[in-house]
Amino acid sequence: MTRPSGAAAPPGAVVLTGAGVSRESGLSTFRDPDGVWRRVRIEDVATPEAFARDPARVQEFYDARRAQLADPAVRPNAAHRALAELDRRWPGDFLLVTQNVDDLHGRAGSERLLHMHGELAKARCLRCGAVERSPPRLADSPPCPACGERGGLRPHVVWFGEMPLGMERIEEALARCGLFVSIGTSGSVYPAAGFVATVRGRARTVELNLEPSEGSALFDEARQGPATRLVPEFVDALLRDAGA
Ligand code: OAD
Repeated sequence: MTRPSGAAAPPGAVVLTGAGVSRESGLSTFRDPDGVWRRVRIEDVATPEAFARDPARVQEFYDARRAQLADPAVRPNAAHRALAELDRRWPGDFLLVTQNVDDLHGRAGSERLLHMHGELAKARCLRCGAVERSPPRLADSPPCPACGERGGLRPHVVWFGEMPLGMERIEEALARCGLFVSIGTSGSVYPAAGFVATVRGRARTVELNLEPSEGSALFDEARQGPATRLVPEFVDALLRDAGA
């Protein structure tokens, strides 16, 4: 459909997701009572220091999380699918920024997608720098698919103390957006937790989360409930209002 001349251009949209969006697909969040960081300590598995001290432990931790993604029961849910639909039909600029290292947004069909904390499905070679599809188990020291060297592969995920990926593209999208939606994230890890403050006042800001996040009060609107219900409802209304 073409817009009548003189009608306002649709705003650019940035959607930020966290572990809550994948909870109903069977993947644990980090800080809920059954969350990952209630079972293992960040300092033991998710820092460069932990990897230097005990690489086998770190590789086993991420190998186990990667293996979960191959479980047929773990698949995209209605929230992932609704966001892929939004990507396809939103008439303005669009970027889905996820903090999740799972591959469920991609599997649901999202294309304008940025994994700011990396991806379990990929491995990075510390010898040659290549980022390739990860072998299933890095603990076995498989050869790098690019250079063939063994022992240099690490998970392509961002650890605490490392720089998130794609920040330049994210900042550009935030600078231009008129709509910012945060879904299923506790708002406790920066820089993602600071995005709402960056756009506040010039973009409509909406939080969709099971419970109010730490930064909930900064949003224009905050709705509580499970992502599989809230996200499809929200996306339907958004597309209807945009005439998309
Ligand atoms: P958290 O575990 O901190 O927060 C998950 C949020 O999702 C909580 O606010 C829950 O209330 C909410 N939630 C749970 N189930 C939900 C559901 N069914 N529908 C909607 N919301 C639900 O996870 P993140 O905010 O993603 O980083 O954590 C941010 C980062 O901290 C992660 O990317 C990871 C972690 O340490 C790194 O490892 C670098």
